[in-house]
Amino acid sequence: MNRKDKVFEDNDPVVRAFEFNETVAHVFDDMAQRSIPQYKEVQSMVNTLALTFFQEGSRIYDLGCSTGTSIALLLQGLKEHGLEDYFIRGIDNSAPMCREAREKLSALDYDSSRVQIEEKDILDEPIENASVVIMNYTLQFIDPLHREKLIRKIYKGLNHNGVLLVSDKTLQTNTDISRIFVDNYYNMKRRNGYSELEIARKREALENVLIPYPIAEEEQLFRTCGFEAVDLFFTWYNFSSFVCLKKG
Ligand SMILES: C[S@@+](CC[C@H](N)C(=O)[O-])C[C@H]1O[C@@H](n2cnc3c(N)ncnc32)[C@H](O)[C@@H]1O
Repeated sequence: MNRKDKVFEDNDPVVRAFEFNETVAHVFDDMAQRSIPQYKEVQSMVNTLALTFFQEGSRIYDLGCSTGTSIALLLQGLKEHGLEDYFIRGIDNSAPMCREAREKLSALDYDSSRVQIEEKDILDEPIENASVVIMNYTLQFIDPLHREKLIRKIYKGLNHNGVLLVSDKTLQTNTDISRIFVDNYYNMKRRNGYSELEIARKREALENVLIPYPIAEEEQLFRTCGFEAVDLFFTWYNFSSFVCLKKG
């Protein structure tokens, strides 16, 4: 089975808005590794931080879990640490992504009653008794009008000393620097085998679908929604990862 991302290889003059459909879900792991800088490293850092803040008996949420990569790593980490009293909810509103996630997890040895992959909208789902909420490259796809409400809901649903871990594409405050960073990002995609056509077509497809915030604005959003401690744990040109701690 060829799992190489060729989604934007065709010459169709019409570029449709990007969707997490069957075609994308099928090749998503390859797409993520070739299009997200240091994808594996960020996953590993998220996993380490999640295990640091996890509280026994609480829930871990992965909002926009896609193919379940973060959850698979978490299951391995929880097992290595001898942690058994957990409940993981992976939520994604793409049915093909949920199918891929279930398939990935089915190859692992774990207590399946402790993990749920649900095809739901993260804007509608309650967050309860959480010590860890992961949002890897998902907030950037949420309509900016709904972001504050979502982050407030997450803050409310986290326990004291719980953590929200967010990774996103971001903007710089200076437009010249932003342009250079974006150029460097496209160079990374070229190095990873994407053609000029594929890069241009995906860029067009993501227009108005993926809406990045400047780093300072995203950080402010977390603070406004109540997070008492907010810091970057990773940054690479136009990509940033935030750790947001609930102290209240
Ligand atoms: C870039 S992918 C996330 C990647 C994944 N977290 C990882 O680390 O590999 C974004 C995911 O968010 C999901 N998504 C976007 N908006 C959503 C919403 N409102 N509710 C649930 N899932 C959503 C998409 O279906 C997609 O699978």
